[in-house]
Amino acid sequence: MKVLEITGCQELKGTIRISGAKNSSVALIPAAILADDDVTICNVPDVTDTDSLSEILEFLGADVRRASESIVINPKNIINKEIPEELSQKLRASYYFMGSLLGKYNHVEMYFPGGCSIGARPINLHLKGFEALGATVKIEDDKYIVDAKELKGATIYLDFASVGATINIMLAAVKAKGTTVIDNAAKEPEIVNVATFLNNMGAKITGAGTSRIKIEGVKELKGCFHEVIPDRIEAGTYTIAGALMGNYLKIDNIIPEHIEALTSKLIEMGVELEIGEDYLIVNRPNKYKTVTVQTQVFPGFPTDLQQPFMVLTTKCNGKSIIEETIWENRFMHVPYLNKMGANITIAGNKATIKGPTELIGSEVEATDLRAGASLVIAALTAKGKTIIHNIEHILRGYENIVEKLNDVGAKIEIKEI
Ligand code: EPZ
Repeated sequence: MKVLEITGCQELKGTIRISGAKNSSVALIPAAILADDDVTICNVPDVTDTDSLSEILEFLGADVRRASESIVINPKNIINKEIPEELSQKLRASYYFMGSLLGKYNHVEMYFPGGCSIGARPINLHLKGFEALGATVKIEDDKYIVDAKELKGATIYLDFASVGATINIMLAAVKAKGTTVIDNAAKEPEIVNVATFLNNMGAKITGAGTSRIKIEGVKELKGCFHEVIPDRIEAGTYTIAGALMGNYLKIDNIIPEHIEALTSKLIEMGVELEIGEDYLIVNRPNKYKTVTVQTQVFPGFPTDLQQPFMVLTTKCNGKSIIEETIWENRFMHVPYLNKMGANITIAGNKATIKGPTELIGSEVEATDLRAGASLVIAALTAKGKTIIHNIEHILRGYENIVEKLNDVGAKIEIKEI
């Protein structure tokens, strides 16, 4: 079994280069099958979630070649067969094969997707979208069978601006007959990245990045070359680490507008930031002011940074409040932060953090991806050694985390126990 061993209190200095966005890549890889020939996606992070999707592509018969940061996918020989449970269960984003296979072949059979246990995570809005396009959905045991004689454009209102449902409906609608409109669509940068990718293939999508997306169905999609945007959550995670331990820590290859909700909170707390065109430099301050944070859909404060950010509030002078509004069960890191010396209480979806508290190295467990990231940050600031178990969650989403942190002065290694 692998664990992360981190010796805390090391100053972080130097440059961390941000990788391509995991949450874009996990949609782009399944979307590639909509093309009729070679698709090259560059800046794809080498994390286990992207590997798991390549495995599904290969299972279906696609030719997948990985070369350093790029992935070349040729979907010509795909056979549209049932995706077995052991593959779909490896990650949440396997559900993007529903939209892409349905969009290309009008039929898909796959098992319920896996992923982090951070809430109920229903996919009713995805299914409602498929049905509006003319598909029928049958659920047998845990298997979804989605079938359509023909997909026809429709106007679909999402009860919640769901990232996954917005992308899945785009994938299913891109070759449908006529025009599809998604109202109350999600506006996350990953949506824009996926729409650009599909447009590069020849799709006709407008409005991505706003709450109304319009898709005019096309007959054919061709191969293309596409670049993944920088990972705003990885960027935010390391910026938070820098706000705690940084001495001129540079976070490079970012789109600063994508993490504005975070940087504006950091400035409010007294963290020194220099924000450039595609980088930022972060310094730890002597004191941190308390804050109130509520997670929101983009451009609000991202739920995916809530857990790492909470570590920072343990250093604030007084009481900070963090409210999680997207997921029902995203405080599983809290007992471990408290074990390390934090003073955090939870009431419903609100966490109250009393600080400042000193964190002490302990043995802890990553219960999900961003809980794992928060424990890494806590360990970087803690006195002594921290051992983190279940690190497979962390490796699903952070490329070369050990190398990146060691390069800027951290003491972190993966150990086999
Ligand atoms: C994406 O999940 C991300 N995952 C999540 O990141 C992220 O937390 C989330 O968007 C919100 O930003 C990927 O991109 C692979 P949603 P997704 O559909 O698409 C409810 C990480 O740490 N909902 O926007 O699954 C749902 O239960 C991961 O990298 C329905 O009720 O999120 C939740 O409460 C974790 N019915 C809310 O909407 C549906 O059909 C937001 O979900 C769909 C969603």
